[in-house]
Amino acid sequence: MKRKLLSLTAVLLTATLGFAQTLLQTRDAKFTIGDKPEYKQTEFDDSSWRNIDMSRNWDHQGVDPETHEAWYRIHFTPGNNDKKGEYIVFDLGSIDDVDETFLNGEKIGQTGTFPGDKEGYSTAWSTPRRYFLPLNSKAIRWGKDNVIAIRCYNGNQPGGMYGQGVSVRVADLADMVSLTNKSATVDGKPGSKVELSCKLPVNIQGNLSLQLIDLADGKVFDSSVRKLTLRPNKPVFAEMAVGDKENTCFVATFTDKKTGQSVKTVYEPKYILTPAAPETPRFNTVPVYGVRPGSPVHYRFGVSGVKPMTFSSTDLPAGLFLNPENGVLSGKIEKAGEYPFTVKAKNAKGEATQNFTLYVGDDKMALTPPMGWNSWNCWGLSVTQDRVISSAQALIDKGLADYGYAYINIDDAWEAPERTPEGKIVVNEKFPDMKGLGDWLHDNGLKFGIYSSPGDLTCGGYLGSLDHEQQDAESYNEWGIDYLKYDWCGYNTKHVKERDRATVSSYIRPYLHMEKYLREQPRDIFYSLCQYGMRDVWKWGRDVDANSWRTTGDIVDTWPSVLEIGFKSQKGLAPYAGPGGWNDPDMLVVGKVGWSDNLRDSRLTANEQYSHISLWSLLASNMLIGCDISQLDDFTLNLLCNNEVNAINQDVLGKQADLVTEDGDIQVWARPLSDGTIAVGLFNLGEEGTNVNLGKYYKALGINGAAGLRDVWRQTDLDTSKPEWMIPRHGVRLLKVTPRK
Ligand code: GAL
Repeated sequence: MKRKLLSLTAVLLTATLGFAQTLLQTRDAKFTIGDKPEYKQTEFDDSSWRNIDMSRNWDHQGVDPETHEAWYRIHFTPGNNDKKGEYIVFDLGSIDDVDETFLNGEKIGQTGTFPGDKEGYSTAWSTPRRYFLPLNSKAIRWGKDNVIAIRCYNGNQPGGMYGQGVSVRVADLADMVSLTNKSATVDGKPGSKVELSCKLPVNIQGNLSLQLIDLADGKVFDSSVRKLTLRPNKPVFAEMAVGDKENTCFVATFTDKKTGQSVKTVYEPKYILTPAAPETPRFNTVPVYGVRPGSPVHYRFGVSGVKPMTFSSTDLPAGLFLNPENGVLSGKIEKAGEYPFTVKAKNAKGEATQNFTLYVGDDKMALTPPMGWNSWNCWGLSVTQDRVISSAQALIDKGLADYGYAYINIDDAWEAPERTPEGKIVVNEKFPDMKGLGDWLHDNGLKFGIYSSPGDLTCGGYLGSLDHEQQDAESYNEWGIDYLKYDWCGYNTKHVKERDRATVSSYIRPYLHMEKYLREQPRDIFYSLCQYGMRDVWKWGRDVDANSWRTTGDIVDTWPSVLEIGFKSQKGLAPYAGPGGWNDPDMLVVGKVGWSDNLRDSRLTANEQYSHISLWSLLASNMLIGCDISQLDDFTLNLLCNNEVNAINQDVLGKQADLVTEDGDIQVWARPLSDGTIAVGLFNLGEEGTNVNLGKYYKALGINGAAGLRDVWRQTDLDTSKPEWMIPRHGVRLLKVTPRK
């Protein structure tokens, strides 16, 4: 019975039920450069044109990369038996930069504008082209040769069609309607709002059903069905209160009366596992911190509890100062050594103390992975100083700083288009006062991060540091920078010219170059390499004195991305991480993200987000929050501020987890902790909830049973005699295991 109910999940989560009658699926086309109106006609003889692959830009296929104008032609014959349904869909992949598309001489679509158009040239290089035609259109020649002719204009390299090639098919319901959901408040409770709309000029009759289901036993908590006629440009809305219980699932289904096809959208309600913090002061940060001799100290003790709170120390080493109001430690110490002292935090409800050690030494930076915020995953290139300040202020006001989040890092797009005549880098109009921003962050015990590239240009097309490394490092020092993300990107152009791609040293050289100037500055600048893992960067990151190195390309807020970047790519990297240098699987994709002015909720479900944060903690990864903190909701706040989860990430032993065993969809990742326990993540990467027994993996974990078991998210001790739990689809059980002696 249980098995049957659990597999219900898989059925529910199958996004679309339908069919699509395919008329054409190909990557091959005829191709010519130039531009003549007769190229669009069916009868035109293209037999002398060359063949081309439409899934790759023409630059890779022997076409002069400077080409601006070109045509593609694709022939196909739709059979008379294919004449079913109402619309035909043409999926053309993406086109660099503009296209005008014809079927048998009749225009069926255009994306972007040509230089000759009245609006002037504008690129739409990243937009996938999808055009529709009614099935009864005269343009379609049933049973005969048809020609799709695509006129292209390329503004900048690369050029032409790329993506999956061309497909033509009869539109199914999923092509014709869109059904989406988002979280909403319904009757004062957490809910989901559904929007159903028609993308084509047709009326569709059908049923919209909403269901709230308990995934543990299949029980339906709430449901409704509504008959409707969906009309073009008249979206239909529906909503349901979904609550905040673990393991529930909200499903909206629209079924077309005529064809019986249906589309679905699924929402897993968010649920909070982290228990509320006590009102009394509680230290949440590890009792160690390291600086180089003589470098300024900017450190904030992370303590939760009701405010106001006061901080004091009776044995503070000479040279240090503790701000009694916000717990910010400042000052500097010239002599290398260990400096232990005690810090007391007090509020109206009680007090707490921490025995703390400041390590001073050339090799003492980044003793634990950095925690903080970066602007990229939310604002992308539209970051501004005000947006940075609002996330930094929220980091303090919402209490994330009480959990150790300290870095505030500006990613790309702060640079002005030109340097000063002396070659100094300058900020653009969006950042009126870098030095002031740095001072304000430091006064609050936060740290200031910035971004550049060893190339002439950054990924976003802004100025990089090439040939100005020393000047830039000096500017960073003037502004009070504590973290540099140094992104390969524009260096590629130079690297190709070097013609020595085969040597690892050519990958190391630009990073070594900047390291010299960074380390000459009289302050600690966390050195974060970003070159997507090329040439096993984890093997030589420490040789360029880096404090972390990105191991992969960019993450996005989807489960396939978390699977690829986290679960797949981090296997086997554990030996390379440790105090001073960390593997970086990219920033967190929780909360409101969007890489632009337009932010949206992370597309990861609640369970996927628990898995994401659990894995990143186990991996001793950089914990850089990628969302707008000023818009942080309770769910995300609790996800980021669980002191026991964060303690795994920050554990002073600094041993990264590795994959211990893989058992079907279950992956077991584990790392030893400094207190002799083992942190274990039991992940269910499958599409169905399933029961997992930890006992099965004791041998693989190298232990002979558990003397103690703690559920880290829920912060409760568990019964060691029954180490079995239901782990939801894409979910996790994060544990601290005390091995039996
Ligand atoms: C990418 C990098 C991103 C972001 C972006 C900025 O190369 O991986 O994290 O920094 O550049 O343009």
